[in-house]
Amino acid sequence: MNIKILQKSNLNEYKRFRLQALKDCPLAFYSDYYENVDRPDEKWLSHLGKVFSEDSSTNIGMFEGDTLIGMATGIGESYKKRSHVAKIAAVYVDPNHRQKGVGGKILDFLITEIMKNSNVVMLELEVNAKLQAPVTLYKSRGFKECGIKSKAMKVDGLFYNTIVMEKEIRN
Ligand SMILES: CC(C)(COP(=O)(O)OP(=O)(O)OC[C@H]1O[C@@H](n2cnc3c(N)ncnc32)[C@H](O)[C@@H]1OP(=O)(O)O)[C@@H](O)C(=O)NCCC(=O)NCCS
Repeated sequence: MNIKILQKSNLNEYKRFRLQALKDCPLAFYSDYYENVDRPDEKWLSHLGKVFSEDSSTNIGMFEGDTLIGMATGIGESYKKRSHVAKIAAVYVDPNHRQKGVGGKILDFLITEIMKNSNVVMLELEVNAKLQAPVTLYKSRGFKECGIKSKAMKVDGLFYNTIVMEKEIRN
């Protein structure tokens, strides 16, 4: 298995896997399958081939052969007063590869990539309060719960709270 920053040459596989994630787990992501399925390739391409910085997000993928089995995104904050914060989002592992350490490895790789930017002090993320697996994953990597957002997500007419989690990566 091979983990790397996704490149523009990974466009088709990235698109396939991200759409799979959005369809498979509507409660896990703010992004919606039907808002993404017809997006032009230029938009997908704009997410690829980037290292993490204040001005850009990086997408990490784990491959088995040519097939993506896991993914995560690190998002930089362009506001000067927020440039010490990185957000983690879009964490997804293919159902056939879960609970074998893939999610943890991808998160470790992403955090290492983010830490190459010496400005970043804090990591933040949000997770649907109904989902136990990601909360356990993030806690296993040192994230702590720091708040709840009420009715932060609405899916098929139902509201969901999200748990806000944070991790300090340097002083
Ligand atoms: C959350 C997710 C990425 C975890 O991936 P994974 O490859 O199964 O995770 P790992 O095998 O690396 O497990 C990491 C930790 O989480 C725990 N964990 C994973 N799945 C779990 C589950 N279903 N229930 C309880 N704990 C779970 C593991 O036991 C492990 O904890 P440990 O290190 O203390 O033993 C995966 O379940 C997934 O893609 N879920 C759907 C999408 C999603 O919810 N994304 C999060 C958006 S915020």
